[in-house]
Amino acid sequence: MHDLSVSNPISGDELVAALNELLEAERAGARVALETANQIKGHDLAPLVVEIQQDEVRWCKMLLGVIGSLGHSPSTITGDFYEKAIAIEELKERLLFLNRGQGWVVRRLEKLIPRIQESNIRSQLQAMLDAHIQNIQRVEEGV
Ligand SMILES: [Fe+2]
Repeated sequence: MHDLSVSNPISGDELVAALNELLEAERAGARVALETANQIKGHDLAPLVVEIQQDEVRWCKMLLGVIGSLGHSPSTITGDFYEKAIAIEELKERLLFLNRGQGWVVRRLEKLIPRIQESNIRSQLQAMLDAHIQNIQRVEEGV
């Protein structure tokens, strides 16, 4: 495995904390998307919300794996984003709020990735970043 030399490399504890924060956010996103998909069955936007939910679950699994590979126990918390998002009754408004949460994830990843030395972790987080940018755009075009 090739370790890249990076400026301002992140320490192990700081990396685990950042990954756990992302995991809590993704878990919240997955729950919001799951409940929303169940509430809007048959709606034009339902397939998109289901795909977002599957992506959010995928990133939860990836983060669980990376945190475990670093020898730590993953957080079991669901981010409070969940409560805030699910309280929004109107579908379009809720999806735009979900998009703002996804935008927060993008900004966190953009700051985090350049500081990670381990190339395998970097590439997995980069895939998560790319997918988030794509899903934000799909929601913007869809709602
Ligand atoms: Fe997400």
